[in-house]
Amino acid sequence: MRSETLFSEVMDPKNRANPYPLYELFRQTPVAKQSDGSFVVSTHENIRTLLFDPRLSSEDLPPSRRPHTGNPIKDWILNPIKNRVVTAHRPFIFRDPPDHDTLRKFVMDEFTIQRVNDAHGRVESLVDEFIERCRGRSEVCLVEDLSYPLPVAVICDLLGVPEEDEPHFQRWATQLATALEPDARHDETGRHAIVAAFDEISAYMRKLIREKRRRPADDMLSRLAKPGNKRTPGMGDIDLIATGILLLVAGHETTVNLITNAMLTLLRNPDELEKLKADPERAPRLIEEVLRYEPPVHFRTRKATSPIDIDRVTIPAGAPVILLFAAANRDPARFANPDRFDPDRADNQHFGFGGGLHYCVGAPLARIEAEIALVTLCRRLREPRLMSDPPPYRSGASLRGPASLGIHINGIS
Ligand code: HEM
Repeated sequence: MRSETLFSEVMDPKNRANPYPLYELFRQTPVAKQSDGSFVVSTHENIRTLLFDPRLSSEDLPPSRRPHTGNPIKDWILNPIKNRVVTAHRPFIFRDPPDHDTLRKFVMDEFTIQRVNDAHGRVESLVDEFIERCRGRSEVCLVEDLSYPLPVAVICDLLGVPEEDEPHFQRWATQLATALEPDARHDETGRHAIVAAFDEISAYMRKLIREKRRRPADDMLSRLAKPGNKRTPGMGDIDLIATGILLLVAGHETTVNLITNAMLTLLRNPDELEKLKADPERAPRLIEEVLRYEPPVHFRTRKATSPIDIDRVTIPAGAPVILLFAAANRDPARFANPDRFDPDRADNQHFGFGGGLHYCVGAPLARIEAEIALVTLCRRLREPRLMSDPPPYRSGASLRGPASLGIHINGIS
């Protein structure tokens, strides 16, 4: 297989269930130029270097473009202004310093250890409630019954989104997450669907923020919406909307895959399932190993702002760069027996949450959700067995995970 077309194989849905042999091929050409001019980086050392290189920009999304409506006022006046505003105020995952750092700090100041620890009890009761709903059944679908509804309930609760509005978020989050997939970005219909979902969720967030300002509560959105003063200015309204949307989408579509991938891996490794059942304290190291071995985010894209020499290759200015985290997570130069699922491995420095400036803001929350879900599932599902292996996968190659995970059970404890 030619290395210049290898990434199109990664994007091909037929390889979704097991992309790891392709990643092994990539590591043989650690900085691989593709026929479309992009560069795929796949080894642990190179990715670690590039994550800290300021010449790699995260501002790599094409400018926002609303479709023509036939209404001249919209097409020639309103929508071009909207496009410019949305492009200038992207969520901070798509921004570089200094704006990135300023916006990220607002969130980090609110995403306190206290707030995450406080979510503990709520996650436990939600997990129990979702599992209880499966009582009397001999089959469950992990995605539908738990992994999908849990993160959206948790993040909505944290931000202060009313419970009855959660179903809208599931739809918007799924659509917006496709902005992280390179093929959806370049497909005109896909981009218009993303813009439409963005406009809907923005209108909703604008109303919610107004409400939070009128009646502040003890939630993250109320705190982020607090007006600033001369010494410490607050976040502007458009950035606040974009940040709220980012937290909802980033906190949802990824955690779904972590919980599902973790359970799938345990069902494929029943000795590990038994060990976790006997000793729930193993959960943190088990989840770290899932983040390495079956990460929810396989790659992220960047753009070189000036030429970069790395591993005897020059990446030219303007070239898209794909950081293939999931390949680096199985790099034999960094991890012994990388294709073995081993929660007891030491020094597990994976890229499951990325690294550098854009390291995942929600990592502590995601860990708590996944640990509680896994421990409770192992304790409460009696004799769980996979209904099909591999399960069907969702279309995303970057945010990769099963579309459904059917499990036979002999009841619930
Ligand atoms: C298992 C769950 C999760 C995984 C695997 C994950 C993974 C990641 C990764 C790989 C990045 C780096 C992106 C890049 O380098 O461009 C990232 C960034 C981010 N994540 Fe997560 N994430 C998870 C859960 C969450 C949660 C629960 C939240 C929030 C509630 C969240 C919020 C964010 C934000 C805001 C960023 C952007 C950080 C920045 O640009 O500075 N994530 N995440």
